[in-house]
Amino acid sequence: MKILCIGDIIGKPGRRAVMEILPALKLGLGVDVVIANGENSAGGIGLTPDVAEELFSYGVDAITSGNHIWSQMEILPMLEGDAPVVRPLNFPPDVPGKGYTSVKGVLVVSLMGRTFINNLVDCPFRAMDRLLDELKTPPKHIIVDFHAEATSEKQAMGWYLDGRVTGVVGTHTHVGTVDARVLPGGTASVSDIGMVGPWESIIGDNKDDVLKRFLTGIPNRLAVGKGRVTFNSVLITTDAGGRAIGIERVDRETAALA
Ligand code: FE2
Repeated sequence: MKILCIGDIIGKPGRRAVMEILPALKLGLGVDVVIANGENSAGGIGLTPDVAEELFSYGVDAITSGNHIWSQMEILPMLEGDAPVVRPLNFPPDVPGKGYTSVKGVLVVSLMGRTFINNLVDCPFRAMDRLLDELKTPPKHIIVDFHAEATSEKQAMGWYLDGRVTGVVGTHTHVGTVDARVLPGGTASVSDIGMVGPWESIIGDNKDDVLKRFLTGIPNRLAVGKGRVTFNSVLITTDAGGRAIGIERVDRETAALA
């Protein structure tokens, strides 16, 4: 099986790049399942039902999220329903939505880290232990989108789950890392996939807005950046048993101006 995991999609430029790039990529690479992080896909922060449907129409099969999932509250009914849209598994009990979903035979888990990001979530390592325990007969293919800031925490999760899941792919920093590898137990791991967002930006946001924030400390509103769009993803290839046998970066770029 070939599973394409797409990094954080940033606003309209990101969605447009998915529309332009994903269909041909799926055909060319023979992709079976597409998972994308969509927590920044509506106006650069949060996710709405319309935006989720738009991403599905371009060929995305499941949408994961992270710390910005509550930024557009209209997503709540979708999170509570059957749609393959998930919020982090390790949010506190009684929080709306679900932490995992199943698409085309792949269990997709959204999980959030704690280091330098949000220490109010439950321990992500133990949350995965509990989930894998609860599943009794876990599906063969399990992909974990680990939405976290620290590369160390993300590599740690890869090693922790090695041999127990198909892949642990990092998101959130919007900067792709070059450590994609298959660990000895058959788990594909990468610290961060990167983003689908404008290149003339600071991690997807308008560079002037971000610079102003750094220079003044005032939390001004950040618009989405401009320019051509970078498309970062990783392709995980598995055997029939759900073990990863390969992971490679698939990075593209659109020429279109955002
Ligand atoms: Fe995030």
